[in-house]
Amino acid sequence: MSADRQGDAFENLLHEERRFPPSEEFAANAVAQPSLYDEAREQGTEFWARQARELLTWDQDFTETLDWSDAPFAKWFVGGTVNAAYNALDRHVEAGLGDRVAIHFEGEPGDTRTITYADLTREVKKAANAFESLGVQKGDRVAVYLPMIPEAVVTMLACARIGAVHSVVFGGFSADALRSRIDDAEAKLVVTSDGTYRRGKPSALKPAVDGALEREGHTVTNVVVVRRNNEPVDWTEGRDLWWHDVVDTASDEHTAVAHDAEHPLFILYTSGTTGKPKGILHTTGGYLTQTAFTHRNTFDLHPETDVFWCTADIGWVTGHSYVAYAPLVNGATQLMYEGTPDTPHQGRWWELIEKYRVSILYTAPTAIRTFMKWGRDIPKKYDLSSIRVLGSVGEPINPEAWMWYREVIGGGKAPIVDTWWQTETGAHMIAPMPGVISTKPGSAQVAVPGIAIDVVDEMGASVPDGSGGYLVIREPWPAMLRGIWGDPQRFKDTYWSRFDAMYFAGDGAKKDSDGDIWLLGRVDDVMNISGHRLSTTEIESALVSHPSVAEAAVVGATDETTGEAVVAFVILRGSAKDDDDIVTTLRNHVAKEIGPIAKPRNILVVPELPKTRSGKIMRRLLKDVAEGREVGDATTLSDPTIMQQIAVSLRK
Ligand code: WTA
Repeated sequence: MSADRQGDAFENLLHEERRFPPSEEFAANAVAQPSLYDEAREQGTEFWARQARELLTWDQDFTETLDWSDAPFAKWFVGGTVNAAYNALDRHVEAGLGDRVAIHFEGEPGDTRTITYADLTREVKKAANAFESLGVQKGDRVAVYLPMIPEAVVTMLACARIGAVHSVVFGGFSADALRSRIDDAEAKLVVTSDGTYRRGKPSALKPAVDGALEREGHTVTNVVVVRRNNEPVDWTEGRDLWWHDVVDTASDEHTAVAHDAEHPLFILYTSGTTGKPKGILHTTGGYLTQTAFTHRNTFDLHPETDVFWCTADIGWVTGHSYVAYAPLVNGATQLMYEGTPDTPHQGRWWELIEKYRVSILYTAPTAIRTFMKWGRDIPKKYDLSSIRVLGSVGEPINPEAWMWYREVIGGGKAPIVDTWWQTETGAHMIAPMPGVISTKPGSAQVAVPGIAIDVVDEMGASVPDGSGGYLVIREPWPAMLRGIWGDPQRFKDTYWSRFDAMYFAGDGAKKDSDGDIWLLGRVDDVMNISGHRLSTTEIESALVSHPSVAEAAVVGATDETTGEAVVAFVILRGSAKDDDDIVTTLRNHVAKEIGPIAKPRNILVVPELPKTRSGKIMRRLLKDVAEGREVGDATTLSDPTIMQQIAVSLRK
C-alpha cells in the first residue's frame, strides 16, 4: 500500500472509539494477569528463562539465557538440551494424562478419529522408528507434503523426535515449487499421501511428488505415502513405500534423545521480495518456549477444559506453531479438520464447533469476511455457546469483520485477540492478553509481554503516538528465526540492514493516540492474499517463463474478501496477441509453476508497462488501474503517455 493510502485508511480507523474490557469473571480466571506485563518489563531476558523452565521439561538445564555476541545470529538457552516430541507427548503420558484427547480429527467426508495423548505418542514413536529404518538421521531434512490429517502432525513430531529437520510444503503448491524446496533443503525423505478430499471430491497429491522427482539430480531416497482417499497412484518401486507398511508395522518403543536447544527444528519456505523463496530456519528451545507461552497466555488456555481449534493448514507457520507444536506441548485438546468450510454446506465450521464444544477458535480475517458474505443466519443455526476466546491472524482485520466476529460468533462476549506475527517470528509478537487489555476493533494493540515492538520513521527513530512508520523489533526474542537456510548474507540483508540493530518486519504500522499499534500491510513487494504471502516477483517470473509473454508486472489489488488479490499486466509476444484463450492459459501456467493459490484474479494484456527513466516498473500506477482509481502522478515515467495507452487498450 502506498504511504498516502495507508494514511487515509488510518485516518478512518482513528475514529474507532469502541473498547471492550474483559468481563470481571474472565479477568479473574485469566491465565495472563496484569502482573505478567510488569514481570516482563522488570526481568528482561530472565523473564524468558523463567518461562522456558516453567513450560518445558529440559533434559539438561541451560547455563545462559541469550548469547547475542554474534548478532543477528542468536543463541537462546545455551547449553540446554530438550526434545520437542517428548515435551509434546511422552511427558503428558508420564503425568497420567494419556487418556486425554490430543486431536479430534474430522475428515471432509465426515469420517472421524479420536486420538489421545497415549495414541499419538505411540504413533510418533512408530513413525520415528520407521524413518530411522529408512536411514533418516539427526540433521537430515524431510519434506512433508500432506493434507490436514493426523499423519501430518505425527510426521513433524517424529522428525523432531529423532532430530531430523522437517520442511513442510503446503499441498496447494505445484510440483515445480515442491521440487525447488526439496532441492534447496536437500531432503532425503518425502512424506505425502495419495491425496485428500476437497469440496466433496477426492483430490490428488502424489502426482505432484512424482512430478517433482521426475527429473534426475535430486537427493530423495524414499517417498512414504499415507493412504487417505484410496485413489489409484503411480508407484516407483524401490523408492515409494506405503505408510501402513513401514509405520504401522514399526515398534512402538522409542526413547527420545534430547537435542541441543539450538538444534534445527524445521525449515519453512516463505515468499520474499525476490523470486526465490526463503527457507526460514527455526530451532528448538526458544521456538517451543515462545509458542507454548503465547498459546497459553494469548488464548487464555485452560488445558483441562478447553477445546482449541486453529483452522490453519500445517503448510503455513500458523499450522506449525499453533497446531503441531504449542497445543501439544501445553497438553491441550484440539480439533483438526481436513476440508473446506462450505462442504457439504456453509455451516460446516459451526456444526463442528457445536459438535466438539470448541472453546477457542483461531482463524483468518479472509474466512470471517467470507462468512459475513454468506450471512449471519448460517452460524445462528448452531449452538456456539462453548466459545470463550476468538483469535485472528494473517492480515489486518477490518473493524466491521472484527465486530461481526465478536457478535455473531463470539456471542457479544468472547474477547478477540488479533495476533500479529510472521513465519520469521515463529510465535505471536503483538496481541492483547485477553484478561488484561480492553480490546479495540481492528487493532492488534500491544506487544506480547517480553517482546520489544516499535514503530520507527525512515531514520529509525521511534515515532510519537498518533504517527506511522515501519514496524520493527528492537530486542531478540526466543522464537526468532535463526537464519535463512544456506544463505546467512540474505538473512542479514533482508531483516537487519534497513535499520541499525533492529529487525525490520516489512510491515507498515501506526500508533494511535493510546499508543496501540495498527498494522497497515506490507511495505515491500510481498502481497498478502487470504493471509498467504506471495511475492510479486515470483509471479512475474512465472509469467515471463511462458513463451507467449514478453514482460509482466504484478500488483496486489484490494479485494473485499481475500484482502488483496493478484492482478497481472502482461505484454504478449507476436502471435499470442491473437490467442483468445491466452488469459486462461497464463492463469493455468502460474498454477503449474507456483500453485493454484498464486493464480492471478485478473490478467490484463497491455501494450506497454509504465517505467521510470531508470527502467523500474512503477507498480503504484498499475495498482491505481487495478483498483479502478484515477491514476496518480505519472510525471517521472520515461514515456508519460503510457498510462493513457494502457487505459485505451483496456477499454477495448
Ligand atoms: C501479515 C502469518 C495484520 C503481516 C502468521 C506479516 C498481519 C505477514 C497479521 C506474515 C495481523 C500477520 N494483522 N497483518 N494480525 N498477522 N500479518 O509469514 O503483513 O504467513 O508480515 O505469517 O502477514 O505472514 P506469514
